[in-house]
Amino acid sequence: MSWWQQHSQPIEVLVCGASRGIGLALCAALLAKPQVARVWAVARQAGQSAELQRLAGQHPGRLCWRDLDIADEAALQAFAAELRDVMPHLHLLLNCVGVLQEGPVHAEKSLAQVDLAGLQASFLRNAFAPVLLLKHLLPLLRGRHPCQVAMLSARVGSIADNRLGGWYSYRASKAALNQLLRTASIELARLNPNACVLSLHPGTTDTELSRPFQANVPNEQLFSPAFVAARLLAVLASKTPADSGSFRAWDDQPIPW
Ligand SMILES: NC(=O)c1ccc[n+]([C@@H]2O[C@H](COP(=O)([O-])OP(=O)(O)OC[C@H]3O[C@@H](n4cnc5c(N)ncnc54)[C@H](OP(=O)(O)O)[C@@H]3O)[C@@H](O)[C@H]2O)c1
Repeated sequence: MSWWQQHSQPIEVLVCGASRGIGLALCAALLAKPQVARVWAVARQAGQSAELQRLAGQHPGRLCWRDLDIADEAALQAFAAELRDVMPHLHLLLNCVGVLQEGPVHAEKSLAQVDLAGLQASFLRNAFAPVLLLKHLLPLLRGRHPCQVAMLSARVGSIADNRLGGWYSYRASKAALNQLLRTASIELARLNPNACVLSLHPGTTDTELSRPFQANVPNEQLFSPAFVAARLLAVLASKTPADSGSFRAWDDQPIPW
C-alpha cells in the first residue's frame, strides 16, 4: 500500500521554502492530490511570490501561506503554536529551504575563500534552521498517525561521495543536516512508530539556487522543478518507517553518508 493510501482522512502538509524552485513545484503537485486537505506554504517572502499567490487563488482554503524566516526561532515557535491551534497532526513536512550562494554565503572553490561569516550563514540556513523547525513541530508529529518528514539535502553533502572538493560550507552544512535528521529519525521512531524521516537529493534542478552553476550541466541532467517534485513525491509514496533515517536521491537510489 502506498503511503498516500494509508490515511483515513485528507492530510495536512507543510512546505518550507515554498515561494519558488522545488518547494513551489511541490506545492502545485500536492494541491493536485485529492488526499491533501491543506498545504501550508512558508517562505521569507511567500506573499511576494506571484506563482504561489496564483496557486492560492486556484485552491481557495487549501493553500495557506505565511511569510516566515525559519532561521528565526521565535517566529518559528509562534508559527508552530498557530498550527497546533488549528490541527492535531501534521502528516507531511517538506523542507526545501537551502542556500548555496547568497549574501555572505559563497560556493568556495578553495580554502582561501572560506570565511566565518559564510560558514555560519550556510550552517544556519542549511542545518540549524531545519532542526529547529523539526523541534517546534514535534508536538504535531508525535502520536501514531502516518507521518513523513523529508528535507532537501544534496548529494554533495555525502562525505563518501566527495571526490571533487570545493563548496566547503554547502557540503559541510548538508552533511550536518543529514546527521541531524538521522539523529531525529531515531528519536521520532520512539515518539511515533509510523513516522519516517528522510534526507533527499533532488538532482540538479533548474532554479535560482543552481542557475549560476548550470554552465557545465548537460541538458538531460538539468531537471525541471515539476519533474523533481513528481519524482520526490513518488519516492515518498514508497517509504515506510523502516526507511526512516536514510538518504535517497530523486530516483530512489540510496546515497552513502
Ligand atoms: N536546485 C538544485 O539543483 C539543488 C540540488 C541539490 C539540492 N538542492 C536543495 O534543494 C532545496 C531547494 O532548492 P531550490 O533550488 O528550490 O532553491 P531556491 O530556488 O533558492 O528556493 C529556496 C526557497 O527557500 C526559501 N527560503 C530561503 N531561506 C529561507 C528561510 N530562512 N526561511 C524560509 N524560507 C526560506 C526561498 O524563499 P524566500 O527567499 O522568499 O525565503 C525559496 O522559496 C535546497 O535545500 C537546496 O540546497 C537543490
